[in-house]
Amino acid sequence: MKATAMSNFEIVAREDFSNVTYLLEVRHPLMAKAAKPGQFVIVMLHENGERIPLTIADFDRKQGTITLVIQAVGKTTRQMQQECQVGASLFAMVGPMGTPSPISHAKKVLCVGGGLGVAPIFPQARAFKESGAYVIAVLGFRNKDLVFWEDKFRASCDELILCTNDGSAGMKGMITDGIKVALAQHPDIEEVVAIGPPVMMKACADATRPYKIKTMVSVNPIMVDGTGMCGGCRVKVGDQVKFACVDGPDFDGHLVDFDDLMLRLQRYTKDEKAAHERWSDSCRMTTQGGSSTLAG
Ligand SMILES: Cc1cc2nc3c(=O)[nH]c(=O)nc-3n(C[C@H](O)[C@H](O)[C@H](O)COP(=O)(O)OP(=O)(O)OC[C@H]3O[C@@H](n4cnc5c(N)ncnc54)[C@H](O)[C@@H]3O)c2cc1C
Ligand code: FES
Repeated sequence: MKATAMSNFEIVAREDFSNVTYLLEVRHPLMAKAAKPGQFVIVMLHENGERIPLTIADFDRKQGTITLVIQAVGKTTRQMQQECQVGASLFAMVGPMGTPSPISHAKKVLCVGGGLGVAPIFPQARAFKESGAYVIAVLGFRNKDLVFWEDKFRASCDELILCTNDGSAGMKGMITDGIKVALAQHPDIEEVVAIGPPVMMKACADATRPYKIKTMVSVNPIMVDGTGMCGGCRVKVGDQVKFACVDGPDFDGHLVDFDDLMLRLQRYTKDEKAAHERWSDSCRMTTQGGSSTLAG
């Protein structure tokens, strides 16, 4: 069943940052009122669709909207990319979920976002700024075509270091090169927050470990219920096992077992590929069916 524009979760704005990354602004006044940095929602596109967790990348309490920034990586995120146009609605959206990011009283903070991780780091950067911290952002992308929200960060942070792998925008280098520059210029950074793919967050935690700077990361294990009941989102943090959906998703990056996290994320690759192929086939058949009707 397709959700109608009359439901509560109407898409009121959309922006495509690239051919894989898109932003949706969804109307939900109560969620916008309650949302805090670091929290996420669980979304269903259709009644029988998969439940997928997505970070609340921004919220506007006055307009009553929340912002999601999504990367089309598999069946559901590609289907959303195709179907979530302005005026359409999501079938369900539950949240805000997870423990809000702890916004400490650190005086100087480095916020690091890699690729899609640039979106979820934004509410934290803004919250640190509002709490009186000097905020430096390091944003990393593969190339200039993938850059988004540069202006938004410039407006909310004290300094911005933009890095691209190929040097097409900002400094040439990996995100860890940007971190090195920031640490050299600001030896008094008290806290680092890093969000991005697990391999990137691992590299960020390794970069700050020798300096013993508190480093928080936001982990993204497979989530099912999002309520701490199924155990799907288990993460090893030091000698403890945590459930990212209720205990996190933010944890001490120096304690997270990233290798275990990456291994667990690959567990369902075969099923995910099969689901995507089934959906692509059904899209092809619909298109072909549609054209033959027109031709006839
Ligand atoms: C707390 C949290 C916040 C997230 N925030 C965002 C966000 O803001 N934007 C965004 O684009 N993505 C976000 N993700 C990842 C997003 O949930 C997955 O990309 C999405 O579920 C993939 O579904 P798919 O059907 O398109 O692809 P699939 O082909 O089903 O999966 C592709 C990959 O996505 C991951 N994945 C699949 N299912 C899940 C699941 N149920 N839970 C978590 N990861 C899954 C796996 O690594 C998998 O290999 C977040 C994940 C978590 C846990
Ligand atoms: S998603 Fe089930 S316990 Fe976290």
